[in-house]
Amino acid sequence: MAVLEILQVGHPILREHARELSHEELASAEVQTLIDDMIETMHAANGAGIAAPQVGRSLAICLVEIRGNPRYPYLPSIPLTVLVNPKITPRADETFSNYEGCLSVPNLRGRVTRSTEIDLSYLDRSGARTDCVVRGLSAGVYQHECDHLVGALFVDRVSDPRSLTTWPEFERHYKAAFLAELEPLLARWGS
Ligand code: NI
Repeated sequence: MAVLEILQVGHPILREHARELSHEELASAEVQTLIDDMIETMHAANGAGIAAPQVGRSLAICLVEIRGNPRYPYLPSIPLTVLVNPKITPRADETFSNYEGCLSVPNLRGRVTRSTEIDLSYLDRSGARTDCVVRGLSAGVYQHECDHLVGALFVDRVSDPRSLTTWPEFERHYKAAFLAELEPLLARWGS
């Protein structure tokens, strides 16, 4: 296992459409090692998720894990999930306004509109298909990670650039109001 370099905004690989994997490729030692290295890299960076393009591989693989995350302490827990060739379909028109950040966009957060309910379909690292519904704040986490696989960064989705803030300024000026805003969403979905 190895901690990999995380590419930063401006690197062209972050803007590519990631390629889907065949079952054979997914089973290969190379891809299984890549997944292990992505897990270690996400843990080392305290990420809530990471996508293969962020470590320089334009492959449709991303991870999500939330467990007392110091970057996002208000996010509900999500067990470590490896998503290969994921597909997201919004289930309804309803959205919420999230404050997102990204390991590839240092010290910046901003408001992004996300669907509150999604259908999520993916292969796990053994190649087994999972179809599920994700609701609430957790749905935003999956949408952020899957965006990386189509070359999109959260800054592309920031509808009002005046919401952009460094992490310390977020803590100082916006965090309290944002947490209050999330309460009804968390109460409704529990996720
Ligand atoms: Ni990101």
